[in-house]
Amino acid sequence: MRPPNRKGSEVFFMDIQQIISQMTLEEKAALCQGRSSWFTRAVERLGVPEMMMSDGPHGLRKQDLEKENGGVNDAIKAVCYPTAVGTACSFDRALLEEMGSLLGQTCQAEKVGVILGPAANIKRTPLCGRNFEYFSEDPYLSGEIAAAHIRGVQSQGVGTSLKHFAANNQETRRMTVSANVDERTLREIYLASFEGAVKGGHPWTVMCAYNKLNGVYCSENPWLLTQVLRKEWGFDGLVMSDWGAVNDRVKGVPAGLELEMPESGPAHDRDLVAAVREGRLKESDLDTTCERLLTLVKKYLDNRREGEVFDRGMQHHQARKIAREAMVLLKNDGAVLPIRGNRKVAFIGRFAEKPRYQGGGSSHITVSEELSALEAVRSVCPVTYAPAFSLEEDVVDEALQAEAVEAAKAADVAVLFLGLPEFIESEGFDRKDMALPRCQLELVKRILQVQKNVAVVLHNGAPVELPFADDVPAILEAYLAGQAGGGAVVDLLFGAVSPCGKLAETFPLRLEDTPAYLNFPGDGDNVNYAEGIYVGYRYYDKRKLPVRFPFGHGLTYTTFRYDNLRLSGDVFRGEPLKVEVDVTNTGAMAAKEIVQFYVRPDHPGKDRPVRELKGFDKVFLQPGETATASCTLDARSFSYWEERIGDWYAEPGLYQVEAAASSRDIRLSAPVTVENKPLPVRVTLDTPLGDIWKIPGGKEVLGKLISGVNEASNDDNLGAASQAMMEAMLRDTPMHNLIGFSWDKLTLQQLKDTVRQLNQMQGLQDEE
Ligand code: BGC
Repeated sequence: MRPPNRKGSEVFFMDIQQIISQMTLEEKAALCQGRSSWFTRAVERLGVPEMMMSDGPHGLRKQDLEKENGGVNDAIKAVCYPTAVGTACSFDRALLEEMGSLLGQTCQAEKVGVILGPAANIKRTPLCGRNFEYFSEDPYLSGEIAAAHIRGVQSQGVGTSLKHFAANNQETRRMTVSANVDERTLREIYLASFEGAVKGGHPWTVMCAYNKLNGVYCSENPWLLTQVLRKEWGFDGLVMSDWGAVNDRVKGVPAGLELEMPESGPAHDRDLVAAVREGRLKESDLDTTCERLLTLVKKYLDNRREGEVFDRGMQHHQARKIAREAMVLLKNDGAVLPIRGNRKVAFIGRFAEKPRYQGGGSSHITVSEELSALEAVRSVCPVTYAPAFSLEEDVVDEALQAEAVEAAKAADVAVLFLGLPEFIESEGFDRKDMALPRCQLELVKRILQVQKNVAVVLHNGAPVELPFADDVPAILEAYLAGQAGGGAVVDLLFGAVSPCGKLAETFPLRLEDTPAYLNFPGDGDNVNYAEGIYVGYRYYDKRKLPVRFPFGHGLTYTTFRYDNLRLSGDVFRGEPLKVEVDVTNTGAMAAKEIVQFYVRPDHPGKDRPVRELKGFDKVFLQPGETATASCTLDARSFSYWEERIGDWYAEPGLYQVEAAASSRDIRLSAPVTVENKPLPVRVTLDTPLGDIWKIPGGKEVLGKLISGVNEASNDDNLGAASQAMMEAMLRDTPMHNLIGFSWDKLTLQQLKDTVRQLNQMQGLQDEE
């Protein structure tokens, strides 16, 4: 008997194993792909319904089912929140949970089971066309924020699809290019972002990327989809393909790809059936695929809530609040911002009237309403407005510019709304350079000749070069701030609240300085991540390069003092370490401060970044008030990926824990010593003696082997210089050379026995 589903209206109960046992091979194969663009397939005969998915990540893009075969913009009206490039700058887990929960409520109201996103790809280069949809250049921040987004959506009984797994860091040839990345770099940077999201958010689904990873399509990559994702990270949901990312459907099944999206037609069903019949694919693998698919559908049904209301007005209001936290005050010398008193204000630049508040492509929301800065400012003060340039092309329109210059001249303050129009930045292609349109750069020059009180507001999805940065008193990075972003811009410009966001990415001075400059976008078939782990600030800091604005930078309308950084211990042996610092608002306005905690290795050893973000906290303080910001560090916070053991390793030695206002504004630091077992050294006949000396007891074993064989090495009468030279030579001498050095007194067998002994001493099994 089927008991009714208590939460949903449908009378439905699934015994998944029973359903699978009743399915024909053809039905099982059919379940491995979707129906049309947005649904899983139903198995009506057995009472399995379909489930709808829709795009996100920063709003619901639900296809209007009346127009199912329409274009990407034929979606129902929904609320567009700030895009990921901005929300990451909030460094605010609670805010992302709140936004996620609003998205989840919307999905409930619209009967959508899974909202596609968030996207946790790392910003490898500022040029990637989809950077606006990605969170950060830093995997810890990206993983934490993505996890919070996921928790928020899923708190409403709606699934997410963490995408695009993995190493989808460019749009150029995204459907075929092979991202060639060494394992340490993958683990520490590109996978780490997804790992944080999977472990901290438990997404219902993951979406695999279009591209190949080290030569193998992500959609048929067992190492990626099964070994790492499921076995190592404990993911227990469903993997779907990006839309059209399937190459070989049969290979995808045992690799761990459950659902192909969208529907691709009967060919793949036939391939799967034939593969089982011919013994190339185990039917049990297909059963596992069906089990995961049915588990997802059941989860959707179990969590369905009827009667949920999608309150667009309330959500628009929330979108404005979130946008305020997602903007970054990059520069402010205090002369212009916040705009106070009865100053005559001119808004200049088309974006004031038509803000670019979302990106182009699959994440494009059909908005319920929109609020430009020009409209929002009406309730604050009168402004004059000059559009100054077109958003359709990059040409200097003399008449428009002359009008703008006049408006700036007549005002006390000119606010210039600049940015990247959609024809320069979108899903589907990468930018060619980091420049703002030429017409906008020309405009800034002309305005500065008549007006010094200039504040620039930027609308862009990724860093741009800012050649005028030293010449303007204030710059507010608004990014793509969602449909209510114009309201948030006005709130911040006029000081209704203080800005508080901090950059989740570096603003380099110029494109030529960027880490991937020499290896992007690759030669067509391949893109080699030759810069390795040195992505974003890890690269600029290691090379001591000046940047325009560093990772983690962002100003407020007040100032903060950091005091009393303290750790719960000064030796780390594996137990979590509590880090606390007191922060005081020393200015005159209430504001939030984002405190960053970095870990900096302070001992000779493995080649590592100068510092890495390992924690962050945000505190809201009234003038004069003090609060404690904190984080917890664990073994992973001190570890790097050690390829020799295929695992994370916290190298023993001294580290500094830093409390910072940005990656280049370190306020306080405290030492901690990590104690850990030394790394085992796999000894072979090629191992240099110097490496063997590092093994505890290694020197003694070697000493015993060669005692009496080579008198010179034991010669106490050697001078200090000769002794040092001798040592240096021996340090680089491989084991096998000992036979010659000993004039054949040592045999190959003796050396092999010693090799075995040295490995066994360290708990390493014999190779071969
Ligand atoms: C994008 C995904 C998106 C999907 C469905 C793909 O082209 O890469 O991010 O979710 O389309 O629209």
